[in-house]
Amino acid sequence: MDDQALNSLREALKFSPDNLPLKLHLAEMLIKANRLAEAEKEFAELMQLSPAPRYRTGLASVFYHQGEYSKCNVILEEMVAAGQADFEALVLHAKALLKEGALQPATRAYQQALELRPGFRDEELDQQLRVPHPSAPLPPTSDEDEEAEGQAPGRVFMQIPSLGFADVGGMASVKKEIELKIIKPLLHPELYKAYGKKIGGGILLYGPPGCGKTYLAKATAGQVKATFINIRLNDILDMWIGNSEKNLHQVFELARQNTPCVLFIDEIDALGASRSDMKQSAGRHLINQFLQELDGIDSSNEGILVLGATNTPWHLDPAFRRPGRFDRIVFVPPPDEAAREAILHLKLKQKPTEGIDAKSLAKKLEHYSGADLEALVDIAIEAKLEAAFLDGVPKPLTTNDLLAAAKKHRPTTQEWFATAKNFALFANEAGLYDDILTYLKIKK
Ligand SMILES: Nc1ncnc2c1ncn2[C@@H]1O[C@H](COP(=O)(O)OP(=O)(O)O)[C@@H](O)[C@H]1O
Ligand SMILES: [Mg+2]
Repeated sequence: MDDQALNSLREALKFSPDNLPLKLHLAEMLIKANRLAEAEKEFAELMQLSPAPRYRTGLASVFYHQGEYSKCNVILEEMVAAGQADFEALVLHAKALLKEGALQPATRAYQQALELRPGFRDEELDQQLRVPHPSAPLPPTSDEDEEAEGQAPGRVFMQIPSLGFADVGGMASVKKEIELKIIKPLLHPELYKAYGKKIGGGILLYGPPGCGKTYLAKATAGQVKATFINIRLNDILDMWIGNSEKNLHQVFELARQNTPCVLFIDEIDALGASRSDMKQSAGRHLINQFLQELDGIDSSNEGILVLGATNTPWHLDPAFRRPGRFDRIVFVPPPDEAAREAILHLKLKQKPTEGIDAKSLAKKLEHYSGADLEALVDIAIEAKLEAAFLDGVPKPLTTNDLLAAAKKHRPTTQEWFATAKNFALFANEAGLYDDILTYLKIKK
């Protein structure tokens, strides 16, 4: 809705200031137009005029859009306590709690919402909380179909992924590193103890986007039958001083309550000491808290495998790389030919295809990331759909369709290497980024 339409709504309201539905409509349109301060004012006035829960949810939703998740949650919590939280309020509550890193309360709110409306699904919430809705298992999605099968309806979240190393194409050296550093100690703790070797510490995965860091972390959890907890550091950071620390602690506690567990922390660079907002004392405080949690100072981290990921390891505070912390930093390169072939097979598994030569495709699609390959399949399918609408005959995907798609979608990994190369060449302290140079064939 454009400004003019909003203004005429306002005009109309001048003539009938008590028309609450009209005022509500205006307030909702203001949110859509991202005019949040004005929306806040309308909702506040509505609440003065009537105690209807809808107006309070509206105000909470304004706060949510402003990134003021605490305020949003305070309103919604009151509504829950008063038994006034309807479906919309519960979904919003789940989302706002999630933003604060309060995974368990978020899960509860989402479950309550699903009880009210069993057919409902929210992609973001499903992904973060992994809540299959109570009445039916999740429909299979491309890379999680096996997981959906084994799911008892209504079973709770954070489940053990059924994905294992066999599902990850290529990456032999990365897998080996994880095997040695994470899997073996978990399976044979007594051996490590006998040699007086301390177990613990995490691995930091870095590399261009879309090349399987998240996917590999999930497969690691599946490989050792551990619970998988996946969080993005940016979701934990909160504008309220002190809240980020609380959120962070809650996540580690959740992991401690669900061992064995792979705690995967994405976007670790959000805690980079070189970031200007982290230089202030509040940021410093958060980094220290993170290190404490990682070190397991106040509580044991036994049975927790910490994997971190970042696209920009050079922004990370060096304190993270001390022994017992992220003392291995592992490069996750773009998929090699074998991996590309495996990924293509994976992405085409449940699609109608005919005589696809994944091998020759993999050979031609150098520099394409896993996410890029996924995009190619999408583009090719869209083209097929269009053709099917024209002549009414649905035809299967072929090798040529994918090659045609490759003309429309160039690989995205090269850009990352342009930056990474500079760090590897000029800020390669202790050979940290040698793998990048080797990959670029600059160094053997
Ligand atoms: N080696 C691989 N084997 C199988 N699938 C892969 C591989 N690398 C990437 N993929 C696919 O590409 C998608 C994007 O990978 P993702 O793990 O999200 O990348 P990142 O976390 O590095 O940005 C994944 O969902 C996965 O399906
Ligand atoms: Mg990722």
